[in-house]
Amino acid sequence: MSTPDVDVNHNKNIKTEDLLCPLVEYEECDFSKLLEKPRLLNIERQRSLDERSLSELSIGMSPHHSTRGVDLNSSRIFEKLDYICSPVGRRSGFSTPRSQTGFDPHPMVAEAWEALRRSLVYFRGQPVGTIAALDNTEENLNYDQVFVRDFVPSALAFLMNGEPEIVRNFILKTLRLQSWEKKIDRFQLGEGVMPASFKVLHDPVRNSETLIADFGESAIGRVAPVDSGFWWIILLRAYTKSTGDTSLAELPECQKGMRLILSLCLSEGFDTFPTLLCADGCCMIDRRMGVYGYPIEIQALFFMALRCALLLLKQDDEGKEFIERIVKRLHALSYHMRSYFWLDLKQLNDIYRYKTEEYSHTAVNKFNVMPDSLPEWVFDFMPLRGGYFIGNVSPARMDFRWFCLGNCIAILSSLATPEQSTAIMDLIESRWEELVGEMPLKVCYPAMETHEWRIITGCDPKNTRWSYHNGGSWPVLLWLLTAACVKTGRPQIARRAIEIAEARLLKDHWPEYYDGKLGRYIGKQSRKAQTWSIAGYLVAKMMLEDPSHLGMIAIEEDKQMKPLLRRSNSWTL
Ligand code: GLC
Repeated sequence: MSTPDVDVNHNKNIKTEDLLCPLVEYEECDFSKLLEKPRLLNIERQRSLDERSLSELSIGMSPHHSTRGVDLNSSRIFEKLDYICSPVGRRSGFSTPRSQTGFDPHPMVAEAWEALRRSLVYFRGQPVGTIAALDNTEENLNYDQVFVRDFVPSALAFLMNGEPEIVRNFILKTLRLQSWEKKIDRFQLGEGVMPASFKVLHDPVRNSETLIADFGESAIGRVAPVDSGFWWIILLRAYTKSTGDTSLAELPECQKGMRLILSLCLSEGFDTFPTLLCADGCCMIDRRMGVYGYPIEIQALFFMALRCALLLLKQDDEGKEFIERIVKRLHALSYHMRSYFWLDLKQLNDIYRYKTEEYSHTAVNKFNVMPDSLPEWVFDFMPLRGGYFIGNVSPARMDFRWFCLGNCIAILSSLATPEQSTAIMDLIESRWEELVGEMPLKVCYPAMETHEWRIITGCDPKNTRWSYHNGGSWPVLLWLLTAACVKTGRPQIARRAIEIAEARLLKDHWPEYYDGKLGRYIGKQSRKAQTWSIAGYLVAKMMLEDPSHLGMIAIEEDKQMKPLLRRSNSWTL
C-alpha cells in the first residue's frame, strides 16, 4: 500500500481512503509492438488521421446525437489516435539518442540531453518532472521547483525520445495536487486550479518525501497560474497521441481533473465576449506587463485546451455536458479571435480610418477603438504581406504588441486559419531582425519604455526595456516556432533560427533569456542551465528531424469552424 504522497497540511478535502489508495499502476507500453507499425513520416497522412470534428460532436445540435454518443463512447473515442508519433523505444538512463536519419546530430544535442537528465526531479524514486533551472550561482527563489509550463518542452522531448513514464508520472502527480484545498490568505481558490509549480521536500529525520505546491500563494505578486490547467490538458493529449495509450486519459480521476479545469474556464459570468477574462501575469509572462484582460497567450491556450479536451473527454453523462459547452464555445471563440484579434495591413488601415462613438449593432468599430491609440511603431512593423493576432482586445483597447507564444499556439491549434497561419509566418520572415535578431525569440515586441513602462509595469526593474518579459529573447520559444514552421510547411525558417541559437546557447550555459533589441546580451537576471531553454532546443531539433512528432502538439483545422471572413465591407484576408 502506498503512503500519502501529499503534504497532509494542505490536504483537507481529500478523503482518507483516497490517500491510502495506491495510484493506479499502468501497463508499460510495449514498444516492440509499436515498432512493428509502419513509421509515418508523411504529415499529410497525419492530417487525414485527425480527430473528431466539431460536426461529429454537435451533440444536441444534431438529431442523431444519441447514436453517435454510443459510437464514440469509452475507448472508441480514441480510435483515431491509433498511430504513434515516436517510434523509438529508448528508455530513461540510456545515453543520448542518435540521429535517426543517418545525419550526425549536432554536438550540442548530446550536451543538452545530459543537462536535461540532470534536471530530473524524483519523488519516492520516480521521475516526476524537471527543475526550472539548475543554477546555484543565483538565489533560488522558485527556480528550484517543477513548473507546469516549464515542464511542457521537457515532456515533449521525453515523449519524442520514447520515454513516456515521466510524463505519465507528472500528469498523475499534478492531478493529485489539483485536489488540494487551496487558500490565499482567507480566500479559497477554485477546485480546478492547477499549480504553477511544485517541489519535493525531503525530511532527512523522518526519511520521507512530501510534495508542496504553489498555486500563486507564494508566487511573486501572487499571480494566478491560469495557463497551468490548459498546459495540463494539452500534455495529456500529447501523451495519449504519442504513446497510443488511452488508459491514462480514460481514468476517472483524469476525466474529473479535466472537467474541473473546464468548469473554471467555461463558467458563465457577465462577459459579452467568448474570450477568457484574466488578471495580469497569469501565464509565461508572470509579472505585471499589461497582459490583463484578454491576453492572446491565454486565449490561444484556452482554445487549444478546449480542442484537446474534446478529443479526450468520454461521452458519459458528465462528459457529454462539457462536450456540448466546449463545441459552442469553440465556435464563438474562433469567430471572435479570427475577426477581432487579427491584424494585417488592410485591417490596420481600416482601424486607422475608424469612426468612433458608433451606437447599435451596425457599428463597424465595435469596441470603440480610438485611431489615436494606434502606436507609431505598428505602421512600420506591419509588412505588406503578413499579419498576426494582436496582444489584447477589449472596449477601447487594442494592445498591438506581438506575442510569440500566443501566435505559435494559434497556428498549432488551428485557431488561425491556414491563410492566417501563412501570414504569421510571412510576418516572422519579414520582421526577422526584430523578432529573431541574434537570439530567437522575442517573447513580445516591441518593448515598453519610459512613461509607458512606468505606468504599465509599475516601474518593474526586472522588466526594463528589451529585458526579460519586456521584449527579451527567450530560447525556449524555439520549439514553438519550429512546430509552427513544420505545420505551415516552412521548416527552413526554423532551421535558420536554430542555427543562430546553436552559435551561443551552450557556450552561454543555456540562459533563460537574452536582453537587448537584438537579443545580443545574456539577460540581466537570467538564470543559467534553464531547463526549458535546453528542452526547447531538443524538441526543435527532434521535430525538424522527424516532422511526424508534430502530431502530438498540433491539431488540424476543423472545417466546421470556418470563419465568416466578412466583418465589415472592407474585410478581406
Ligand atoms: C519566470 C518566468 C516563468 C517561468 C518561471 C520558471 O517566472 O517568467 O514563465 O515559468 O520563471 O522558469
